[in-house]
Amino acid sequence: MSSSRRPVIAGNWKMHKTIAEAEQFIQGLLPRVTTADSVDVVICPPFTALGAMVDSTRGSRVEVYAQHVNDQPEGAFTGEISIAMLEELDVHGVIIGHSERRGLYAENDVSLAKKVAALIDSSLAPLLCVGETEAERDAGTMEARLREQVTTGLSEVPSDRIAEVTIAYEPIWAIGTGRVATADQAQEACAFIRALIAERDASAAEQIRILYGGSAKPENAAELVGLADCDGLLVGGASLDPASFAEMVVAAG
Ligand code: 13P
Repeated sequence: MSSSRRPVIAGNWKMHKTIAEAEQFIQGLLPRVTTADSVDVVICPPFTALGAMVDSTRGSRVEVYAQHVNDQPEGAFTGEISIAMLEELDVHGVIIGHSERRGLYAENDVSLAKKVAALIDSSLAPLLCVGETEAERDAGTMEARLREQVTTGLSEVPSDRIAEVTIAYEPIWAIGTGRVATADQAQEACAFIRALIAERDASAAEQIRILYGGSAKPENAAELVGLADCDGLLVGGASLDPASFAEMVVAAG
């Protein structure tokens, strides 16, 4: 983490927590993170709990992101949610291209690029996820895959707006497996992503925040956030418990 970039600890709840459970979480989290004011704290609840979480975090430092959005303003897209619907709730941002959405719901780099561009034109911040499979890493194609995901994902964003995007490097083999990337692996990938962005714009590369995700937990949070090119964490399982999530926020400060 560079001192010029504020660290972010973001919790991706995936398909967890009813509104009642989310309320219970936030009552447990807020008192634990009041002093960690050098860290940006983000929670990403399911759609149904977004409104309640925006209300419950108002006036606090916690920001609320959705986990997914459609790039079209409206239309016959059953089950989808538009940017305007999220803006109306005062949501702060959206996760784009999580590997579970790429893998289970066939999202691809070209469609994700449209979403990132649509978000840049809105009041919502995009958090774009990238990362290789274990097979790609073993085959030596990790860098090619990251290049494709980052360059295509950002292709419709003007260079002077790239720093408004946050990237999350989430190696798929480390997600939900308990197998965290080593510090060297995480640093190497985050540095590679920053170098890719520098090919577009050197100042954007210096400013953009790049997070690590994949079996991050309180025990490894400080080491990961301490890496030169890692500016925070996108946390799955360990973000579901307020005490463990708060520990990671404090470790990043
Ligand atoms: P875990 O922290 O449960 O491995 O999940 C990571 C993730 O997918 C966050 O988006």
